Amino acid sequence: GEDPRIRDIMSRIRVVPDFPKPGIMFQDITTVLLDPKAFKDAINLFVERYKGRNISVVAGIEARGFIFGPPIALAIGAKFVPLRKPGKLPGEVISEDYELEYGKDCLQMHVGAVESKERALVVDDLIATGGTLCAAMNLLERAGAEVVECACLIELPDLKGRERLKGKPLYVLLEAH
Ligand code: PRP
Repeated sequence: GEDPRIRDIMSRIRVVPDFPKPGIMFQDITTVLLDPKAFKDAINLFVERYKGRNISVVAGIEARGFIFGPPIALAIGAKFVPLRKPGKLPGEVISEDYELEYGKDCLQMHVGAVESKERALVVDDLIATGGTLCAAMNLLERAGAEVVECACLIELPDLKGRERLKGKPLYVLLEAH
């Protein structure tokens, strides 16, 4: 990216070959969190983009959307809503199943966390196939919210996940191959 902050964030991401299985180049953001400036820069890049856009909900995807979503929500004056893997939320939930490379997974959201007509931002660390973000958007839309945008630190553009987002805009800080 052109912003020097983005180059610095990129340099802090650790790429781990063959994790969690052979052939996967894992993009590890925990090493960004070890550098307070890089972590703060990442949050600020999102805050600069989303402040003043009347977003009332930041929805974070388990697990790493729970790291980046809350500081963005606090800074733009939005509520934070966790989208969790099945069986974790204690209240009444709605569920969205989605396909993984091998098998299925599911995201759940509490009923009543989001109201009709709310403007929502979906946050995660990374988009690969886009299945996870698509399920997240479906949950918010079923609750009557308008998804303004999805935001991730990292996109794997070779997997064309962007094409699964039903035309909704996706903003990423950087691409990895
Ligand atoms: C990773 C990543 C995204 C998702 C993206 O999560 O943090 O949530 O995969 O993949 P997709 O675009 O192909 O759907 P992971 O499956 O590692 O789950 P975790 O965060 O619970 O560890």
